[in-house]
This record gives sequence, structure tokens and C-alpha cells, in this order.
Amino acid sequence: MFKNLEPLIEGIVNKVEFSTTKKMQEICNLLQKEVNYYNWVGFYFKNGEKRELKLGTFAGEPTDHTIIPFGKGICGQVAESNENFVVPDVQAQDNYIACSINVKSEIVVPLFKNGQNIGQIDIDSDTPDPFSEEDERFLEFVNQKVAEIL
Ligand code: SME
Repeated sequence: MFKNLEPLIEGIVNKVEFSTTKKMQEICNLLQKEVNYYNWVGFYFKNGEKRELKLGTFAGEPTDHTIIPFGKGICGQVAESNENFVVPDVQAQDNYIACSINVKSEIVVPLFKNGQNIGQIDIDSDTPDPFSEEDERFLEFVNQKVAEIL
């Protein structure tokens, strides 16, 4: 499945008539539509010089958590750790920010530009424990492609 999605991601980032924001919105929409256990897909980015993340484009229900301090929740922890964070069961996490009662699991993969962790892709799933290493490799690919247009 992910091998089929990769050329579609490349097609979006290479679309000259799309703005960067439009490209990122299209990527969120594509992932949320095509991967049945990706129920919410969004990009967070470091908010200027502040030690906080700010929500960028997303697909799925609007969230109240448009600003997340570094260290808080899964997203805030990835902002500091620079490592993928796969959460098979969100209820087992102490440092977790709930966006919807339906969410069972989450994956956050940092986005690097010139070696700097500048943001992340965050995916919430209503399915328990759905993520594998294939998701990690695929989302790393997505972030690399996005980094090229930032
Ligand atoms: N659950 C995240 C917050 C962001 S929402 O999932 C959209 C966290 O714990 O950081």
C-alpha cells in the first residue's frame, strides 16, 4: 500500500501550480483518505523561536491543541527527543494530550530540514496498535519530501 502512495506524494510535491500549504494539505487529505487507520493526520512546526509547536495543515476533526509546548504530550516529547514515537495504546501514556475520545493509538515522526528537527507529522488512529515499521519508513519518506519544499 505505501509503495503505491509514494509516487502520489511525489506527484503532489512536484505540482508547480500548488503552493506549499496546498501541497501539505493535499498530503494530509491523501493519507487520511487512503490509509484506513489514519483517522487524523496533521503537521506541527516549531513556532518561531518559542519552545512550542504550532499546528499547520491537517485532515480530520479540528483540534483545540493548536499550540503544544515542548515536552508536553507525544508531540512535545518528539520535539525534544528527535525520534519517532509509536504509541500502540494512548491510554497507557502518562504524558499524553487527548484530542478525541475515539483515539486509541498515535504515531509521531519528526521532520528534519538541514539536520534540524523543525516539526513533525502526527497521526491519530481509532484502531488499537495498528502501526508497524512500514508506517515509520513511509512517514519518514513523506517528511523528507515535505522538507524539500520548505
Ligand atoms: N495527542 C497529541 C496531541 C495532538 S492531537 O493528537 C491532534 C499529543 O499527545 O501530543
